Amino acid sequence: MFRSYLFPTTIVITALLALLMVFATCPVYAAEGPLAPVNLRCEYLTNPVGIDVRLPRFAWVDRHTGRAQVQSAYQLLVASSPELLAQNKGDQWDSGRVASDDPTQVVYNGKPLESDHSYWWKVRWWDKDGSASDYSQAVSFDVALLSAGDWKGQWIGGANQLRQEFTLAEAPRRARAYICGLGYYELRINGAKIGNNYLDPGWTTFDKRDLYATYDVTANLQRGANALGVMLGEGWFHSRVLLLQMDIELASGKHVTVTSGPTWKAKNGPIVSDSVWDGEVYDARLETPGWDQPGFKDDGWMPAEIVKAPGGVLSAQMMPPIQDVDSMIPIALTNPRPGYYVYDMGQNFSGWVDLHVSGPRGARVQLRFAELLYPTGMINRENIREAKARDIYILHGEGEECYHPRFTYHGFRYVEVTGYPGTPSLDSLRGHVVRTAVKTTGSFVASNPLLNQIHRMIRWSDLTNLHSVPTDCPQRNERMGWMGDAQVSSEGLMLNFDTTAFYTNFLRDMRDDQGTDGTITDTVPYGGYGNRPADPAWGAAFPLITWYLYEQTGDRRIVEENYDGLKKYEEYLHSRAPDNVLRYSYYGDWVATERTPGAEVSDFYYYYDTLVLSKMAAALGKSADAEMYSERAGLIKDAFNKEFFDPKSGNYTTGTQTANDLPLFLDMVPPQYHGSVVSNLVDNILYEHNTHLTTGLAGLRYLFPALTQNNQASLAYDLATQTTFPSWGYMLASGATTVWELWQNKVGPHMNSWNHHMLGSIDAWFYEGLGGINVDADQPGYRHIRIEPQITRDLTSVSATVGTVRGEVTSSWTREPGVITLQIDVPVNSTATVSIPWEPEMTEFTVRESGRIVWERGHFVEGTPEVKARGTTGVTPGVMSGSFKDERVIFEVGSGHYDFRLNGE
Ligand code: BGC
Repeated sequence: MFRSYLFPTTIVITALLALLMVFATCPVYAAEGPLAPVNLRCEYLTNPVGIDVRLPRFAWVDRHTGRAQVQSAYQLLVASSPELLAQNKGDQWDSGRVASDDPTQVVYNGKPLESDHSYWWKVRWWDKDGSASDYSQAVSFDVALLSAGDWKGQWIGGANQLRQEFTLAEAPRRARAYICGLGYYELRINGAKIGNNYLDPGWTTFDKRDLYATYDVTANLQRGANALGVMLGEGWFHSRVLLLQMDIELASGKHVTVTSGPTWKAKNGPIVSDSVWDGEVYDARLETPGWDQPGFKDDGWMPAEIVKAPGGVLSAQMMPPIQDVDSMIPIALTNPRPGYYVYDMGQNFSGWVDLHVSGPRGARVQLRFAELLYPTGMINRENIREAKARDIYILHGEGEECYHPRFTYHGFRYVEVTGYPGTPSLDSLRGHVVRTAVKTTGSFVASNPLLNQIHRMIRWSDLTNLHSVPTDCPQRNERMGWMGDAQVSSEGLMLNFDTTAFYTNFLRDMRDDQGTDGTITDTVPYGGYGNRPADPAWGAAFPLITWYLYEQTGDRRIVEENYDGLKKYEEYLHSRAPDNVLRYSYYGDWVATERTPGAEVSDFYYYYDTLVLSKMAAALGKSADAEMYSERAGLIKDAFNKEFFDPKSGNYTTGTQTANDLPLFLDMVPPQYHGSVVSNLVDNILYEHNTHLTTGLAGLRYLFPALTQNNQASLAYDLATQTTFPSWGYMLASGATTVWELWQNKVGPHMNSWNHHMLGSIDAWFYEGLGGINVDADQPGYRHIRIEPQITRDLTSVSATVGTVRGEVTSSWTREPGVITLQIDVPVNSTATVSIPWEPEMTEFTVRESGRIVWERGHFVEGTPEVKARGTTGVTPGVMSGSFKDERVIFEVGSGHYDFRLNGE
């Protein structure tokens, strides 16, 4: 009896469960429409604490469930409190509904922003059909000190530890600390380090500009007694000075300001010496416990000295700071000689190590850093040159001690430890990667593991050379912002990381160093190394990085801010080229294995600089300038061909790969000779060098795109995957984990860093060539994208993503016999031209998009408008048109995710 009742109940429950599971696994189809904006940024930063721009720019990313979507309008609210914003009240600025299809550079247009104030904002948007999204989440930005007059404190110094106590009658409601401590500082309040920045502030030409950091210290302060402690290092300033201001709003609304000045106390602490190149000596016996806490007896301390200001304009540091971004566990520990312990971190990088030790008071542990080992297992520091690159720690002798330096960094894979009391273990050291903390926004993965290893090696070099400026190397007595290195790698960095704020800052550094005669310097900040005027290939960093940033972001302000300086630089070059040929050169095609005359390299850059300046003039609507520079570029091109091209041989100058790839890249070759220059380049690579490259820094940058533009992507691929000298595969096979400075495997003294990013410029081609993601310079900021992957040789798949200002762009392809698939993502407000190659063996092919035929028997298959709108059969909405050109089938698409599949016979 019971059974007969139970049985059906079980069935019903099971059926219900099954139904539930069906619902759970099926996607929930929300009504089609716009989604709330994400990735809200102000001045290219997320929730910045401390900007000093009166009219900041806002940007966000629109998302939509449908395809081919464009923002028709937005509404942005800026409020003086989160509560007001939550009620949709933009008391600072309510933009109202603004018709615009650009969510990337909306300029603040509300009540004047005030110094030392916080603001909150959010935004919503309307799609092309007029449907509104929800508002985004609320985010904030803090305005720091907008004018020099806002600063109340005095510059002080006198020792490397400075302290001050003060009392607050109430708990704070809002408190901000503004600090410029040169060369480097560590700010401490009531016993704790404030923030996660290291090696702060960023390096500048200090008599021109000094960066200050802003911290929200509300939670660090308390009612009653408080203590401020600042440690100072020499850094690139080679001295120690401090300016600090803390603006505190108490619970009652009363304001209190604490500033650096003569009432501060000074005393040298445990850091006995510190230097970027040489490292730090830290005597823990000199620690003064409690010095950064209230109630400390500072009787033995001297009054701080009032010192001369460094002389530069104070500017908010508006870029990602240098931080400890990763830790590294050593992979091996050896003992090659009694008392010498050598740690292998398994990876070359920039930063330092944490030392864990216990032992007698006064024991002295020395850490020496190296990129290389001798066959004996001892560290080889010949290529570190004169940098001492060592840290010394002297124990206080109580319990386990833990130390890492504050005011230096090293470039290393190996660490030699001497003087360690007892026997160190693998756990006695931890590596820490310290560099400018840019976010990773791009990714590249290919079916050929060698390409992935090369990409990885380049990423390590690029990243560990970000130290508030792009340095050449992180290990030897150099670490300069060499401009040639910077310009060749910058586009690859922009594709991999969120670097807009970083390069915006670097461009300002260049302007700071520009001479009144327009000259640019080889290194920025300038000093120590290099020349003024810069080698033209190095000076080109100024126009080219401005141009790349404009291409990547479409941001006119970046161009506006640099335009006058760029014109001055252009006119300087012009003054050195009376017959339209710029010949002066110091380094030219630096580190090439075959020589190309420096004059050709310099003149190529003169042409390139002039060309991009004419384009930037056009972008700003300066048509007279645009025309003048474009005409001048024409004259330079003609003069270049006259001076350097030999029509008889079809070669430029020495006929090296660099000599021919430079003019090919910029399409400078007279059309009737184009074919012979291409075949000379190909022959040189194939037959004279057995598929190896000979280029230096300049020629390398353009070799891969030049080959690709001229139908030689397969040859470019062969070069990229070469494994014998000279090649990246050779570096890897020789044990490189970061890119070398030279193609040669050298380990002796002089110039052979094992971590130089400049020969990593091929990374841009991985994204643009193999991945096929290309920005269209005529519609910058990825408003229009060209997706044009190179499907070649044994590659069976590539997947690339670029985090653009409008959102993520992805291109991901696979290939098997007879089938090519391509999945792409195009952000809202962007369109793309998608170009899919077909295999020459195919006689006939069909293309489906998400299962629907869009190309058949040589024709685009267009759906009826109703079908298009419904998206059930025929052409998928979003695929606007199709055509066929140069063995590629080409579709125009709007925003959205697309899944193409080409089947051939
Ligand atoms: C640097 C380079 C730089 C070069 C200029 C070297 O010492 O490390 O990377 O571009 O000098 O000649």
